[in-house]
Amino acid sequence: MAKVILSQLTKKFPDKSGSEVVAVKSIDLVINDHEFMVLVGPSGCGKSTTLRMIAGLEEISGGTVAIDGRVVNEVEPKDRDIAMVFQNYALYPHMSVYENMAFALKLRNLPKAEIESRVRDAATLLGLESLLDRKPKALSGGQRQRVAVGRAIVRQPKVFLFDEPLSNLDAKMRVSMRTEITKLHARLAATMIYVTHDQVEAMTMGDRICVMKDGKIMQVAPPLEVYRRPANLFVAGFIGSPPMNLFKGTLRVSAGQVEFVEENSSGNSQVVVLPDRLAAPVARYVGQPVVFGVRPEGITVEAVAANGPTVRVELCEPMGAETYLHLTSGVTNFIARVGAEVDHALGTTLTVTFDLTNACLFDGRTEDAIGAGSQPA
Ligand SMILES: Nc1ncnc2c1ncn2[C@@H]1O[C@H](COP(=O)(O)OP(=O)(O)O)[C@@H](O)[C@H]1O
Ligand SMILES: [Mg+2]
Repeated sequence: MAKVILSQLTKKFPDKSGSEVVAVKSIDLVINDHEFMVLVGPSGCGKSTTLRMIAGLEEISGGTVAIDGRVVNEVEPKDRDIAMVFQNYALYPHMSVYENMAFALKLRNLPKAEIESRVRDAATLLGLESLLDRKPKALSGGQRQRVAVGRAIVRQPKVFLFDEPLSNLDAKMRVSMRTEITKLHARLAATMIYVTHDQVEAMTMGDRICVMKDGKIMQVAPPLEVYRRPANLFVAGFIGSPPMNLFKGTLRVSAGQVEFVEENSSGNSQVVVLPDRLAAPVARYVGQPVVFGVRPEGITVEAVAANGPTVRVELCEPMGAETYLHLTSGVTNFIARVGAEVDHALGTTLTVTFDLTNACLFDGRTEDAIGAGSQPA
């Protein structure tokens, strides 16, 4: 039942000069019941402000937040039936783990037995049974984070809100807590809204991800759809590591086929014959600036052919399971993700082949994807 609907949600902050900063710009977003929605974007794009408006910790300047069919703009945070987990955990230092988890329930005057049972259940779920008598200072970062999550769970809220809950943990702990939260979501089947700047967290945790920039929503879709069909150049560059390779150029029609031609004054332009999926909507872009995008795994390299454009190896990064080959066409620097066995000396000349299954094309002026929404052949 706990569907969250943001309608034209806006937040304006007064700034020092007396004018205002619009931190969230009339966003529309539906978070479905049981859904794990990730808000992702660079620092300052308005993620926390959005989450805090849902929680009731920040006044709403325009639009509405509805939880479970009820507009909550004027509803006190404690009456919204949400629980929020913060980056800094915000545990009470003088209370034990048990007391930290029980606190909100005591405030609500729940019967002692009910409190006890909820805290024990959450502790079991999170592997905290043996730590219930400890104070937060005697816990590791990961354990503290688990207590913060436990404190949210015992409240049995309609909606869980997480604001960068893993940012204070080391890389290894982050990965294991990430998995725990995902499993927790599967078990509780609750609606969760999770804020992060980390695109790997977004990709791995979200049922859907909402990519934000400058207070606006750039795209909302399941992770792989965002990865394969980014709505614009910003999303293409933000999601994926190494990022999507982007070649600037133009389109031309040659022998009835639409070709992308890299802008390259040295006469060594990469040329790509576009598949029907990309070629069909582009007639009006012929001669106009466009950007051709291909993921690092969509590029294969071969020893140089007799003629045709070439690229040069700039760096060979062995990652263990694979190798990142940094290449240049002379104009565009790009990365191919190739087999671990591949090793090329710097300066080697190669030819590249692009796998067009998931290649993208963007309008060079608006930066929006061309032919978005179409599926691979
Ligand atoms: N209390 C505030 N007063 C003024 N400006 C704020 C305040 N809180 C946030 N902002 C501004 O709003 C924008 C969005 O901030 P925030 O939501 O915290 O971004 P994020 O969580 O995506 O990093 C930023 O430009 C930030 O400086
Ligand atoms: Mg934030």
